[in-house]
Amino acid sequence: MSLTPKTDRVIDRAIDLLNSNRNQEALELFGLAIAETNLKGLAYGRAVALARMGQVDEAVDTLEELLRFIPNHPKARSLLRELLPPVLSVPSIKQNNIAGLHRVTQQTQWLPSTMYPDDTYLVSYPKSGNTWVRFLLANLLKKEDEDIDFHTVHKHIPEVGSQKNLLRELKRPRLIKSHAPFINAYPKVIYLVRDGRDAYVSFYYHRQKQLSPKIDFNTYLLSEDHYPCRWGEHVLSWLREKQQTRLLVVKYEDLKNDCFSQLRRMLVFLGVNRESNRIEAAIKASSFENMKRIEAEKGRLFADQGPEVFMRKGIVGDWKSHFGSKEKRFFKSTEGQLLVELGYEKDMSW
Ligand code: A3P
Repeated sequence: MSLTPKTDRVIDRAIDLLNSNRNQEALELFGLAIAETNLKGLAYGRAVALARMGQVDEAVDTLEELLRFIPNHPKARSLLRELLPPVLSVPSIKQNNIAGLHRVTQQTQWLPSTMYPDDTYLVSYPKSGNTWVRFLLANLLKKEDEDIDFHTVHKHIPEVGSQKNLLRELKRPRLIKSHAPFINAYPKVIYLVRDGRDAYVSFYYHRQKQLSPKIDFNTYLLSEDHYPCRWGEHVLSWLREKQQTRLLVVKYEDLKNDCFSQLRRMLVFLGVNRESNRIEAAIKASSFENMKRIEAEKGRLFADQGPEVFMRKGIVGDWKSHFGSKEKRFFKSTEGQLLVELGYEKDMSW
């Protein structure tokens, strides 16, 4: 198809606008160019603008439509993968386990007294890096002269069960932390996942103070005593409900690997625009070493209930020094398939 010089200019301008993050204007021009030329590939620019503006559902529709015409559009495929959580089907998690979770989710501790449609919940199984993500986001939401530490972070992103006034006084749109298994009432959710084996190891050390008598890791892993449920039940409860909730899935391991991109995905989802240098500064302020220093210097809330040191190791794969053949066999028989579905393992031969 030959383009008129005028249409050419519209497309160039749309691309320029997109490159300068002027997404609303880019969106309008891409719309115009698509109407004039019927060039399907232009829908990719439209989808990028939509995604950046937090209109994830529309971006997904646009990409799916584009891929129907151009199935081999690698950028569209990769953006779609970023926007959609993985589709899961895990037979090892029994149906009745999931049903049993309803008991847990009925508890009022998971719901604040007031809900707003623009609330976003930062949800994770315990020990999946929730505090890290809260530091990252709080450093991007705070006033310039404010310091984020283990006390002030709660003011920006409090826990769902916090005192009522803390939640009531929070500026909208609110960001709230929760460990709840799937709850339909949460309007928007960033769901943070970590390799379940590492989450169990981390939780084991976290609970040392509460476990009495002291038990070894094997006994802990195989016990029924897991809050609020087993890792696999939690993860699956959220990921299989993807149609019902606006959900962005973020992996702890991806944060370790490329924090900048993952943080930008979260900002897009939240509809928050920040310059790259501010994002870099937030990453630096929330590095493991810096958070460890802040903990040592200023302490943390609820220190009496948790481990001596909250910032323990912060690494990927610590499970390898805690899982012997018995632990591996047990994990594979309960949650092993989910590791594969989530891309943590290629198959069950680990
Ligand atoms: P480890 O016990 O494996 O070290 P949560 O905040 O959800 O309770 O998660 C706690 C885990 O996240 C702990 O894992 C902690 O060390 C790790 N963590 C906290 N801040 C981190 C950071 N900046 N970088 C990497 N890991 C971090």
